[in-house]
Amino acid sequence: MKSKPDYILKIGGSLLTDKASRETFSPQLDRVIETISRNPDGVVIHGAGSFGHPHASEHNLHRGSREGALETHRAVKKLNSEIIKRLHRKGVKAFPVHPSSASLRRPETEIMTRQILKMYEEGFTPVLHGDGIVTEDEGFTVLSGDEILALLEKKFDTGHAGFCTSEKGVLNSDREVVDKINSMENFEGLKMEGEDVTGGMENKVREVLEKNIQASIFGQDDLENFLSGENPGTTVK
Ligand code: IPE
Repeated sequence: MKSKPDYILKIGGSLLTDKASRETFSPQLDRVIETISRNPDGVVIHGAGSFGHPHASEHNLHRGSREGALETHRAVKKLNSEIIKRLHRKGVKAFPVHPSSASLRRPETEIMTRQILKMYEEGFTPVLHGDGIVTEDEGFTVLSGDEILALLEKKFDTGHAGFCTSEKGVLNSDREVVDKINSMENFEGLKMEGEDVTGGMENKVREVLEKNIQASIFGQDDLENFLSGENPGTTVK
């Protein structure tokens, strides 16, 4: 029985779903599933992609609204069930964990890590996802898969956390992968004037630096390398 997951992996919603069309799986979903099935000894988190984001933004879920909470959860649960089903077909004992029933924001985010670790120790692969969660203050908010990764890595200290994204890593203005990032200033310095070449990476970099952990950011072609213990793409620390 292993006491610590080998890795904490977050797979971006844009890899798993077709962002251009609602509640649609991407053509590469099965390749990602297949790669994970060859090394399932970790904790997997997936994004919401075209399942969760449209509902969350239509209802301003991140601003404490109640409207859209059920719809968002229904949609991300549908994506999660499909991922779980496909992992089962590949022989992975994937166990769904829905953050809406396991976390609270007050305003710091609490997530039930004991159950997740215990599931892992019992031989399962916990599979979490970005979700709408309740706040102690008022209404619901969005808990992203990026924050879940940082929270779990902070708690479990696997030393091997990674974001598999639609880019090969954090890119500089020449679209080359940057090896290391160790501060927000460092990250901001990569941007060209008036242009956000690094796009959705900011949230990942901020989560990692704020929680004082280490994580890799890499593309789908490097997923296998990450799962076998390497640190491909950009290392944020
Ligand atoms: C967002 O999760 C969760 C909701 C919109 C409910 P993520 O931020 O982790 O999703 P992706 O990876 O961007 O799709």
